[in-house]
Amino acid sequence: MTDTKPLVSERRRYLVTTVAQAKEITVNWLTEIELNHVVSLGLPEVDDRYHLWRVPLLRQLDDARIGELAIDAYNTAVLHEKSTKPEMLEARLLKKDEARAEKKRTTGIKYPISTLRNTVGMGDCVQLLDEMPAASVDLIFTSPPYFNARPEYSDYEQYEQYLFKMRQVIKRAHGVLNEGRFFVMNTAPVLLRRASRSEASKRIAVPFDLHQIFIEEGFDFIDDIIWAKPEGAGWATGRGRRFAADRNPLQYKAVPVTEYVLVYRKRTDVLIDWHIRNHPDQSLVAASKIGDDYEHTNIWRIQPNTRSKHPAAFPLELARKVVSYYSFKGDVVLDPFAGSGTVGDAASGLGRRFVLFELNPEYIKIVQEAAPSWLGKAADDILWLKCPPPPPAMTLFETPSDYDATGGENA
Ligand SMILES: C[S@@+](CC[C@H](N)C(=O)[O-])C[C@H]1O[C@@H](n2cnc3c(N)ncnc32)[C@H](O)[C@@H]1O
Repeated sequence: MTDTKPLVSERRRYLVTTVAQAKEITVNWLTEIELNHVVSLGLPEVDDRYHLWRVPLLRQLDDARIGELAIDAYNTAVLHEKSTKPEMLEARLLKKDEARAEKKRTTGIKYPISTLRNTVGMGDCVQLLDEMPAASVDLIFTSPPYFNARPEYSDYEQYEQYLFKMRQVIKRAHGVLNEGRFFVMNTAPVLLRRASRSEASKRIAVPFDLHQIFIEEGFDFIDDIIWAKPEGAGWATGRGRRFAADRNPLQYKAVPVTEYVLVYRKRTDVLIDWHIRNHPDQSLVAASKIGDDYEHTNIWRIQPNTRSKHPAAFPLELARKVVSYYSFKGDVVLDPFAGSGTVGDAASGLGRRFVLFELNPEYIKIVQEAAPSWLGKAADDILWLKCPPPPPAMTLFETPSDYDATGGENA
C-alpha cells in the first residue's frame, strides 16, 4: 500500500516543497557569492514553525559544518538575516579566526549616538513610535498593560487582539532600537477569574506568547529574570486558598509571587564587546561600571511598589537595576507604556535620557508632577509631545512670566 499522506510543505502550500528545490536555491546563492566550488550541502530540513527551509553548508574539504542558509518556504527568498553571512563562511573556509571576521564585519559601522532629549508623549505608543527616528533608542524597558478577559475592564475583547497590539509595539520597538541593544519586558501570566461557580478559573501564560513574538520580530532571547516578591504578595489573588483549606491532591495551586523580567537583544552579528570598545566616550563607559552589590543570579528579590499613585507601577529599584545593567550613562531609555514614569525616574537618577509614552492623561499628570523631583531645573527642558502644558515649575517668590496679578482685569 502506498502512503498518500501529503508532505507538511504541501499541506502548508509552500512554494519550496522538496529537498531538491531547497538545494537548487542554495546552489544559486553560492554561485552568486562565488563559493559554489568550495561549499557543499548537507540535508535540507523544513522548519514549519517558522515556515523556512534550513540548508546546512559544509566545507567541501572536510565536510565540517560552516553555516546555514535559510530560505522562505512560502516565496523562495533567501533570508539573509537568518543565514550565515558570506564573510563568516569565507573566514571559516579559510579557518581564519572568527574574531578577525567580526572585525571585518564591523569596520565602517558607526557607533550611533542619539540626539533625542528627555521626552514624554501622550497617546497610543504605536502611533508615537511611528513618529520616532529609526535607531534612536539604546534600551527599552517596559511593563505592558495586562490582558483582562472581562470586556468591562479591558481594551481587548480577545486575547489575540491583545497579542496583535503587543506585536505592533514590539515590531516598531525593533525599528527605533539601536542594533544589538536590549528590550527588557516585565510581564507575568494573568489569572482570569471564573465567570460563575460552575466554571474553572484560567491562567494565561502571556510571557510565553510574547516570547514567540519577540523571536519572530527579530530579537534574540538573552535572559529570564525572576522578580520574586515577598510571600504575602500573592495571597490577594485568591489562588491557593482552596488547597490551603482542603489539601486535596489535584487541587494544588501555587500562590504566584513572581513576575518575569524577560531580556531580549535586537538580533545582530556585532558582539557586545564592540559596543564597549567602540563607544566614542570611554569616560561614560567607565562611569557606567557596576559596583560589587549587583544581582548575581536570575532571581531578584524586590518589594512591590505599593505607594505609587499608579495601580500597576513597578518598583523604582527594579527599573534602576535594569537601566544600570543594560545601558551606559548618556544613553536613551524608552518606556512605551510608561504609566507613572518609573523608568524616567530611574533613567534620570542614573544619568540616562528618557522617552516615555503613555495613553492615559491622568498618568501623564503624575509624570508632570514628579519630573521636577527627578531632574530639578532640567525638567524645564523636557519635550512634552501631545501633552497638556505641565504646571509651571515655581520656586518661592518666583512669578511665572504669564502671571496676571490683576486677576484678568488688564486683559
Ligand atoms: C502596567 S502599566 C505600566 C506602569 C509603569 N511601569 C509604572 O511604573 O508606572 C501599563 C501602562 O500602559 C498604558 N497603556 C495602555 N495601552 C497603551 C498604549 N496603547 N499606548 C501607551 N500607553 C498605554 C496604561 O495606561 C498603563 O499606564
